[in-house]
Amino acid sequence: MADVRAIDELDDAVWSRVDDLLGSMTLAEKAGQLTQLFYFGALAELADGALPSPAEVEASLAAGTAGALLFVSDPARINRLQRVALDHGRHGIPLLFGFDVIHGLRTMLPVPIAMAASWDPDTIQRAQAVAAREARAVGIHWTFAPMVDIARDPRWGRIVEGAGEDPYLGAAVAAAQVRGFQGHALGSPEHIVAGPKHFAGYGAATGGRDYEEVNLSDAEFWNVYLPPFRAAIEAGAGNVMTAYMDFNGIPATGNRWLLADVLRGDLGFDGFLVSDANAVQNLTTHGFAADSVDAAARALAAGVDLEMAVADPTYAHLPEAVANGAVPEEDLDRCVRRILELKVRLGLFDDPYVDEDAARTVLTDPAHREIARVTAQRSAVLLRNEGDLLPLDIEALKSVAVVGPLADSPRDTLGPWVFDADLDETVTVVDGLRARLGDAVDVRYAPGIRPAQRSFGSIFDIWPGNVPADPENFADHTEFARAVEVARDANVAIVVLGEWQHMIGEMASRSSLDFPGRQLELLQAVVATGTPVVLLVMNGRPLDLRWAAEHVPAILDIWYPGSQGGTAIADLLLGDVSPGGKLPFTWPRTVGQVPMIYSHTTSHDPANQGQRYWDEASTPLFPFGFGLSYATFAYSDLALDRDRLRVGETLTVSVTVTNASSAAGDEVVQLYVHQRYGTASRPVRELKGFRRVALAPRESQTIEFALGPAELRYWNAAARDFVLDAATFDVYVGGDSTAALTSSFSTSHAR
Ligand code: NOJ
Repeated sequence: MADVRAIDELDDAVWSRVDDLLGSMTLAEKAGQLTQLFYFGALAELADGALPSPAEVEASLAAGTAGALLFVSDPARINRLQRVALDHGRHGIPLLFGFDVIHGLRTMLPVPIAMAASWDPDTIQRAQAVAAREARAVGIHWTFAPMVDIARDPRWGRIVEGAGEDPYLGAAVAAAQVRGFQGHALGSPEHIVAGPKHFAGYGAATGGRDYEEVNLSDAEFWNVYLPPFRAAIEAGAGNVMTAYMDFNGIPATGNRWLLADVLRGDLGFDGFLVSDANAVQNLTTHGFAADSVDAAARALAAGVDLEMAVADPTYAHLPEAVANGAVPEEDLDRCVRRILELKVRLGLFDDPYVDEDAARTVLTDPAHREIARVTAQRSAVLLRNEGDLLPLDIEALKSVAVVGPLADSPRDTLGPWVFDADLDETVTVVDGLRARLGDAVDVRYAPGIRPAQRSFGSIFDIWPGNVPADPENFADHTEFARAVEVARDANVAIVVLGEWQHMIGEMASRSSLDFPGRQLELLQAVVATGTPVVLLVMNGRPLDLRWAAEHVPAILDIWYPGSQGGTAIADLLLGDVSPGGKLPFTWPRTVGQVPMIYSHTTSHDPANQGQRYWDEASTPLFPFGFGLSYATFAYSDLALDRDRLRVGETLTVSVTVTNASSAAGDEVVQLYVHQRYGTASRPVRELKGFRRVALAPRESQTIEFALGPAELRYWNAAARDFVLDAATFDVYVGGDSTAALTSSFSTSHAR
């Protein structure tokens, strides 16, 4: 937390200002400072009274019963609402505006799982700094991001918002995002407060069903689910959000052990803690709190400073909880102080309004589009490239068929958690190829099938365009046949398949990993034409690629690539840059295998590890960390600076990676460790280092990694603490989690 000013470093003037305010506020006003309300503007009307109207929210601001808002991103409206609070509120306390700036505001970056696939913290930091700059320009102070929940079950729709299955990669990505959003200190100009979420374990939802209970062993909790939070907090995150579900039988939002002992105690978090939306009220739904007064008291006692509420805030009952003795007033004051302190630190008392003209300039900054493009290029993962079909040879191309309804859908190119993007400036795959290939190549597009639909609606459906329109007069048979003909006549067919963006994200879990609708059938018909096929997968979770991995020569995972997606994809397909991303999760063959992770332990009959099911291999389709390039890489000279050390010491691992081809490309050098024996059985491999390097043709680089206590310690369920065992360790280095180059070392206790 070195960069963030600690509470006691704030000058006396600030403290006396906060003290004066606290001294003059009623209990209801204090509770108001701890209340954040949704503001849906005109969209509220579409929700049939389920959402508070703008007038109702404004009345709360004037009465001082809410001190923060979310879901407002129009700078003029932000200024207007700020004026309501400052001019009509009794104390002139500015509002705090938060929003889900998950992967961009106006300029959309690739979705977070895609950014994680870049394995490039610098790229991720730069990308989220763009998101922060746009958000701050319109008056948003704080983002509900990054989502740092480990996700090991791809049925869970929110896998798209995180960094995948691995705690080490997840920690690096979490820290990079916090640095990008927040800058070097809380309150940095052009930056916003980062709020890692959802504390904690939310990704382990039973059955992959969103919001369902989580039952985690202590060892998994400490070793797998906590490291990204720890890294985000060490990077200075000013906020944390709680989680919705029961954590080992106790709702996370009322879980005093989780929030007070672990988050504030072990992880040393000293920022403000917000509940997930309605999660305080939910303490009654869970069958945990007796009523709203009890829910408010127990959330506050657990450490939740700010309640995020859709309507009828539970924290409005805090005065009753103080009156009945359930909440000591000094506890309430401590939370209010934290929120007021934040508002002071962010400069809101001195400068509460935003410059609306300046906002327009920032939102249209071409430099942001360029960063989006490079981020999308660096996120794509090449899964297959038989016969070097890619990159396409532009000289030999006369006609290109682009097939599949996702290929020309701006909304789906952006992915979920998009509210303010300009669809007209979104570059689809079709747009990108047309712009890149110009008039010399005939690019013909045919959707082939109509968009698939989900079987039920979600809260996000009220946003215009979020659910794909069913095209009018779409003659299924004719369109399908036309797509096949277009493919037959072309030199190459680019088939874009995946999930529509509203099929993934919050409330978008699945019981299947199949391509929705008739997409596989379309792919099979196009492949049957004999035209070489490149499959572009638009996704946020692994999909069933078993057929494609056998029959389609080239497969590129493009995720939801964002505003400049089509441009980046054209750059990749034509070989202007080589794909260099790597999978941030294990890619299963079928949904029946999940959860499936690379860092499992070994047990009885390991030789049979790949045959745990009689009807399907129990190996992944693509391993964690996998991704091809137009270049090929060779690893050599793996060396340890010593092979014996004392427990607690650090050794250096070095390896040479060579680009053995005539194409330039990036390789992600990955280091895995296996502890052979000890006071617990340890995973067969765990990622403990990585570096993305750019290599010119025939270039070699020597990379070094440190392996010390931070990498070798783990939480042990018998010792109930972190331990460092004296043991022998295997080291593996290579381009994915099956890396073959290996060495070993031993540690011993000092005598
Ligand atoms: C609920 C989600 O779980 C959380 O991630 C999000 O930030 C809030 N809603 C606000 O939209």
